[in-house]
Amino acid sequence: MCGIVGYTGSDPAVPVLLDGLERLEYRGYDSAGVAVVSPDKDLQIQKCKGRLNVLRRRLESQPPLEGTVGIGHTRWATHGEPNDVNSHPHVSQNGRIAVVHNGIIENYAEIKEFLQHKGVHFRSDTDSEVVAQLLEYCFADAVDPLDAVYAVLERLEGAYALGILCADRPDMLIAARKDAPLLLGYGDGESFIASDATAIIAHTRDVAYMADGEVAVLTRAGIQVFDEYRRPVEKEHHLIQWDVAAAEKGGYAHFMFKEIMEQPEALRQTISPRLRDGVLCFEELSLPEEKLRAFDRIYLVACGSSYHVGMVGKYNLERFLRLPVEVCLASEFRYSAPLVDQRSLVIVISQSGETLDSMAALREARRRGGYILSIVNVVGSSIARESDDVLYTWAGPEIAVATTKAYSTQLVLLTMFGLWMADKLGRADPADYAAVTAELALLPGKLETVLAATDLYQYLGSQYFNRDCIFYIGRNLDYALGLEGSLKLKEISYIHSESYAAGELKHGTISLIEPGTLVVALATYGPLFDKAVSNIVEVKSRGAQVVAVTTESRLAQMEKIADHTIPIPDTHPALQPNLGVVPLQLFAYYVALQRGCDIDKPKNLAKSVTVE
Ligand code: M6R
Repeated sequence: MCGIVGYTGSDPAVPVLLDGLERLEYRGYDSAGVAVVSPDKDLQIQKCKGRLNVLRRRLESQPPLEGTVGIGHTRWATHGEPNDVNSHPHVSQNGRIAVVHNGIIENYAEIKEFLQHKGVHFRSDTDSEVVAQLLEYCFADAVDPLDAVYAVLERLEGAYALGILCADRPDMLIAARKDAPLLLGYGDGESFIASDATAIIAHTRDVAYMADGEVAVLTRAGIQVFDEYRRPVEKEHHLIQWDVAAAEKGGYAHFMFKEIMEQPEALRQTISPRLRDGVLCFEELSLPEEKLRAFDRIYLVACGSSYHVGMVGKYNLERFLRLPVEVCLASEFRYSAPLVDQRSLVIVISQSGETLDSMAALREARRRGGYILSIVNVVGSSIARESDDVLYTWAGPEIAVATTKAYSTQLVLLTMFGLWMADKLGRADPADYAAVTAELALLPGKLETVLAATDLYQYLGSQYFNRDCIFYIGRNLDYALGLEGSLKLKEISYIHSESYAAGELKHGTISLIEPGTLVVALATYGPLFDKAVSNIVEVKSRGAQVVAVTTESRLAQMEKIADHTIPIPDTHPALQPNLGVVPLQLFAYYVALQRGCDIDKPKNLAKSVTVE
């Protein structure tokens, strides 16, 4: 979704803003712009539709924008088509105030009408422009710019992260936040705002996360923060643990490929602090033991790939815990009057920790009395901060829109948590516990073996990249895994794909199988291997071509049936999806590569979906 960066210091602002926007590109956008205030109080703007290189070319073709305070924005269109006028920053009618905005102003039509009656002319179709115009209107009565900002915020409904420049205050940048992420960066003689830390990590690791209702005033001398009642706030500082290289491609052609290759290390980061001498420990949890014992059901709530983690989690957690586990799409959950109460454990899964649907679901669950545990990658994100307890995946920054290492780390963390909880409740089978924990220690190494077979995935990509439709089938954990494989393919290659529970095919879907149809069959779940074989035979006898993913111990059997086989090492069934997903990620990657797709930034998609 949209990205914001802001700077005030002693260096020229434009290069800092462009560098920051480039690092935010991964969030997804269709236009970009910057605004700076020059020392002689002149507000200068450049903005346009298209990628950042279009903006860069525009900037190069004109005299440089002078100024050491500025704001920049990448826009992912919601209100108004992507074009130059609708791009941010938006400027007030008198040209003295510029605003960048993420989120949606829900009552924008009403404010717009009010201002139009006062004679204000709007230029864009966006909801965001009302903020700039209303600021100008409120400035008329204000002594201090903050008076105007607070007067405006009082009238806004919806979500916003705002960066505001006033031509008359060339030393100052103002930021405000409600339900949209924004952080503050503390430098030496310079201050920053950004949608996420990747934008400013090259300048500072010292950050603070703005809370809802807060307003910040940034100058090169420092940052002052106020709460919604304008009382000063002492912000807690956080030191970003990863370095700038983690958010760069480091010689790889794509972030997605780099992040796939980082999975063994990411898994080590997730597993090792929580596995000591074969014992699972979750010391970071504050969940009281009586509470843990009182839960009578678990909800797994998430979107997209994080939801697919929940699908795997349901099978594993129900098996470990013998408690009912419901997996819910966050966007449905929030409007479904869920039966959450004080005895419900609600696990919200999110890489970004900023997905609006998941955030809204979290709040709904809290309202109904549920205990909120989140599994999150981005430290300090909104979902992490609003949860009763948080488990971080420690996967490091994930830049590619298509998630890979975040999915894998969420998956293993949820499995570990489920087994830990089962043990605490005295429900874990000791042999199972010992087998899973032993395999957890081996998992990163086994993943390296799967990654070593890139030639095979590349070959399969070259054979099947020109298909119009690809099916994924599997049973039980393999069904859940197929959902993720199919989503990866759709997202980055734009090939239509569906994933089906293999046993369900004969109830309708098998009518779609024709001679030559490609079916990716997942047969990694040992207990149902024979059933999976039967389903493969069913599609083969209708002419399908089958690429089968299976474990090494069953490879010989599968080679007799499938057209191509992808072997993965055997592990405990609960952990098998962690190995099975990797060939699916790389198959999707090589198919998309052959088709010439923009792998890291697929069309219409955003990394962090902060609108409903
Ligand atoms: O940041 P989140 O995990 O909350 O994001 C949820 C989905 O938007 C995300 O998983 C999406 O489906 C990915 N692009 C999948 O690769």
